[in-house]
Amino acid sequence: MVSVRNLTFFHNAHQIFDDVSFYIVDGQKVGLIGSNGAGKSTLLKILCKEEVPQTGKIEITGTIGIVPQEVKHDSVMEASTSIQEYLNPEHRLHDYEIEKMIRGVELDELDMDSPPNSLSGGQKTRLALARALLAEPDILLLDEPTNFLDLEGKRWVMNFLSNYPKTLILISHDLELLDKHIDKILFVNGQSSKIEEYKGNYSQALEQRAEKDALLKKQIHLEQRNIMRLEESTKKVGVRQRIILQRRVHRLKEKLPDLPPEVKAIKFRLPDPATVGALPLKATNISKSYGEKKVLKGINLSIDRGECVALIGPNGVGKSTLIKILMNFLEPDEGAVFREPDLKVGYYSQEFENLDFDKNLLETAMISGNVSESVARPVLARFLFPSSKVYQKVGTLSGGEKTRLSIALLLLQNYNLLILDEPTTYLDVMSQRVILQVLKDYRGAILIVSHTEEFIKELGPRRALVLPENHFDYWSEDFLQRVSQV
Ligand SMILES: Nc1ncnc2c1ncn2[C@@H]1O[C@H](COP(=O)(O)OP(=O)(O)OP(=O)(O)O)[C@@H](O)[C@H]1O
Ligand SMILES: [Mg+2]
Repeated sequence: MVSVRNLTFFHNAHQIFDDVSFYIVDGQKVGLIGSNGAGKSTLLKILCKEEVPQTGKIEITGTIGIVPQEVKHDSVMEASTSIQEYLNPEHRLHDYEIEKMIRGVELDELDMDSPPNSLSGGQKTRLALARALLAEPDILLLDEPTNFLDLEGKRWVMNFLSNYPKTLILISHDLELLDKHIDKILFVNGQSSKIEEYKGNYSQALEQRAEKDALLKKQIHLEQRNIMRLEESTKKVGVRQRIILQRRVHRLKEKLPDLPPEVKAIKFRLPDPATVGALPLKATNISKSYGEKKVLKGINLSIDRGECVALIGPNGVGKSTLIKILMNFLEPDEGAVFREPDLKVGYYSQEFENLDFDKNLLETAMISGNVSESVARPVLARFLFPSSKVYQKVGTLSGGEKTRLSIALLLLQNYNLLILDEPTTYLDVMSQRVILQVLKDYRGAILIVSHTEEFIKELGPRRALVLPENHFDYWSEDFLQRVSQV
């Protein structure tokens, strides 16, 4: 049981919760939603006593376990001598239980006797998820648990969670996850600092909200999910129905809020991209296998100066592998990558490796862009960081805010190619709009991976590579349709 009464919480002067109360009974499955920076992760931290509220009474019966949004420095993980030890500290689990779990979270390629410390951020997050699921606490708190998983992994986790015998509180942008076996939605309203409660799953919550029509217009987050759901269903239907659904998606998109005028009015100038020749990057006949599994076969790809290229395809077809090869992080089995000597690549992945968590936003922007305060401030403002936020430590930003900052920093440096691997994962609609606008104005080249189809469409790449079809051609409105009919 979780009982929260009259909770009020501030981060410095910024109010996150204003006299909030709710109650969760044993065994309930709760979905926690709200826009970037609304306070979802903060609420989970309050529940497991990592943050102390200014006022309020919080009662919890039973054991509690949390998997945070980003697992960077988990003291238990750091102290563990092996993955085996970390997953099974009390030695009460059978090997087959552990094996099944690590297969589920797609970590079965790891050596169980190696220490967890050397893993990537994404692997650490999945490992922490495995540990929490194996430990089966009475109250399980999960902060965007499927971010680092591919489609198959997501399915597996969803299925596992739907059978979870205890209480579950889940933050997710994944509509499927929020619609299956969720019986209550808590909506963190960033504007009012209140938490609104809805019975039923996500879609049912949406209907209840629709009754308050005027309010709905403000609910950017809910609208976005609706669009995503429609987009999902366009993939499953025939051509005629698809066209009708796509029209609807388009109309809904048009109704989405525009950037606030004060943000639009901000004048800022980004540094010019460093000079580079006409063909900065070219990859020929790239093949790559992991063991038996052939991931990439005979891929050809080139990026012209200032050109935007999209990489499109379902999870697990090797988009990230290809990017790692292009970045020189990984050797292809066959083929070659040619890079111009003047090529300067800026790279975004979901792991925020390049952020210094101890610096504040303003310092970070000034140092990485080598620019003055008067250049850095308007750029930050344009990325929705007003002056009241520029002295905040980078480490304390929410997931969506960190993404926004990472992309601002890329644009402040004079790279001539940006490689962006899933830049929209953590983002709500407003943040997506900001980033879309700025990328459209960017004059260097871009290689982007995203499964937010609408984002790619609006960005309007010049060419696209579709995997696994291995079809590389000029982009057009009906590009995706044509490919899926091949
Ligand atoms: N120590 C701090 N000082 C000042 N502000 C903070 C601090 N820690 C967090 N915040 C702010 O509190 C707000 C809520 O953060 P939180 O991480 O809970 O958001 P969230 O709803 O989880 O967002 P996201 O969807 O992006 O993950 C954010 O605007 C964040 O920048
Ligand atoms: Mg969060």
